[in-house]
Amino acid sequence: MVLAIETKSLNVGYRNADADVTVLSGVDLKVNVGEFLTILGPSGCGKSTLLRVVADLLEPLAGEITVLGETPHAIRQQREVGFVFQDSTLLPWRTVLENIELPTIVGGKNAAPVVDGRIENLLSLLGLDGLNERYPHQLSGGQRQRVAIARALLNEPKLLLMDEPFGALDEITRDRLNDEILEIWRRTGTTILFVTHSIMEAVYLGQRVMMLASNPGRIVSITDLRDAKTKDNTCKREDPAIIAAMAELRQSLGEVS
Ligand SMILES: Nc1ncnc2c1ncn2[C@@H]1O[C@H](COP(=O)(O)OP(=O)(O)OP(=O)(O)O)[C@@H](O)[C@H]1O
Ligand SMILES: [Mg+2]
Repeated sequence: MVLAIETKSLNVGYRNADADVTVLSGVDLKVNVGEFLTILGPSGCGKSTLLRVVADLLEPLAGEITVLGETPHAIRQQREVGFVFQDSTLLPWRTVLENIELPTIVGGKNAAPVVDGRIENLLSLLGLDGLNERYPHQLSGGQRQRVAIARALLNEPKLLLMDEPFGALDEITRDRLNDEILEIWRRTGTTILFVTHSIMEAVYLGQRVMMLASNPGRIVSITDLRDAKTKDNTCKREDPAIIAAMAELRQSLGEVS
């Protein structure tokens, strides 16, 4: 069976002129196709670095990684990966619509043609109806994040990488977007890797929660929440099993921070 992501003894970090800086080492990870995996860990432990390697924005230092059974590079060429960064980088001189269409414009002839009505569907899926002609500075922070998500979803990626996409938002907006992203995940069946600093968000969204540590950077634990949730990954924040999982992760995060 093909996995969404498989790594063996993977070391990730940065190649400097003088020496390599290893951020995470010995990463052995298997993520199933269609899985929702959330990632927690102290600042600087290497969460973004790991996503960069998966997205082929960075070469691994050592070890093996496959994405959907192929190299990260091959998968990137096939445009199977969508990336949403913490601070969504919309082009200020382009409207909402033009920002969402961006991958098809910069993709040139490699880009898949956009099916009629697809952008309209995305706009409404993300609650952006009527905002197509606005510019980024005319949107709230939450709306800008939604545009970035819409853009990442345009090519129907098989893998969606989200790096603290809702970190800068108020709690109510974040809760709403959490439910929206779960709904998108249920409808599309895409595999999601989602980095967050919020234990609540990690537990609410993830079927499994991966905890990373620094010094040395590594995977500390992977908490499986599937038994505490329904099959379609629904849970109640006040459910005792969910509260217990959060308490355990809080303690573990305290120990590695
Ligand atoms: N281009 C780079 N060159 C060298 N080191 C880097 C580079 N980018 C990041 N680092 C270092 O790699 C380590 C991991 O950084 P990374 O951004 O992956 O952390 P993170 O877990 O995402 O942190 P945060 O929660 O603050 O976003 C940090 O020590 C950081 O200083
Ligand atoms: Mg980061």
